[in-house]
Amino acid sequence: MTFGKTTCRNFENDLKITKLTEHIGANIEGVDLSDPLDEATVLAIKEALEQNGVVVFRNQALSPVAHRDFSANFGPLVGHVLNRFNMEECPEVTILSNAVNDKGEKIGADRAGMIWHSDMSFVKRPSLGSLLYCVECPPVGADTQFASMFAAYDALSTEGKVRLASLKGVHDYPWHYRTYLSHRTPLTTEEEAKTPPVLHPVIRTHPSTERQALYVGEGLTRTIDGMDEEEGRKLVVELSNFATQPQFVYSHKWQPGDLVFWDNRSTMHRATEFDDKYLRLMRRTTILGDEPFYHPN
Ligand SMILES: [Fe+2]
Repeated sequence: MTFGKTTCRNFENDLKITKLTEHIGANIEGVDLSDPLDEATVLAIKEALEQNGVVVFRNQALSPVAHRDFSANFGPLVGHVLNRFNMEECPEVTILSNAVNDKGEKIGADRAGMIWHSDMSFVKRPSLGSLLYCVECPPVGADTQFASMFAAYDALSTEGKVRLASLKGVHDYPWHYRTYLSHRTPLTTEEEAKTPPVLHPVIRTHPSTERQALYVGEGLTRTIDGMDEEEGRKLVVELSNFATQPQFVYSHKWQPGDLVFWDNRSTMHRATEFDDKYLRLMRRTTILGDEPFYHPN
């Protein structure tokens, strides 16, 4: 999808990619994301994303339109399932914020994603990746932590890999909303009907790298299909805790102008707490992905 691009710039030879931790995260310098990019530059960024799970670009000046256009290089964009937080003038961009308008209403999704999850895992074709841009952030707290689900899979025992390969997680948005977002206006019947629970393999094969990743997160995976509800929930929480051990995690401390792009097929993430006396204003886009699958290799 393009939005009236004219000339495209090549930054391929200027890109400086530096790993942030052993398993996850890379910093990319040498590119201005507000410029239309040529194919070679887009491909180099895509490869860095798929290898590292998360890529960080500092000091970017991105309007909502430029954010949308950069994101659209990687696939079709989908707005938030709840239309209420999508920007009116640019509906592919969702606002995440604790700010209120003059009527006292929240202008964006507040306290979103504080429990480990992979974006939109509750739909049949979940998000390929998400791009979050920081306009304003608290001086402390409100970090985003990312876990490598490739590294988590690799660290499983052989018996664990075999056992999990046949299981499916139940991803359930209305349950998530009732459990973790009770401070918000409840979902309407129509909104609930749009997001019935879906099943996805507990181990998913990355469609580009063909590496196996664990695909279970405490925040959106309610339980395991075919198991007793509580037993399944216990296993979900156990796997989620296993995957988010410090050695698999990169914690991003935000600065205004940061754009962080993550691969939802091989990572999960969560936001950390912050003091509401500070303003948090972020913009997010999400790219439509494929239906998750498992291929033994
Ligand atoms: Fe998220």
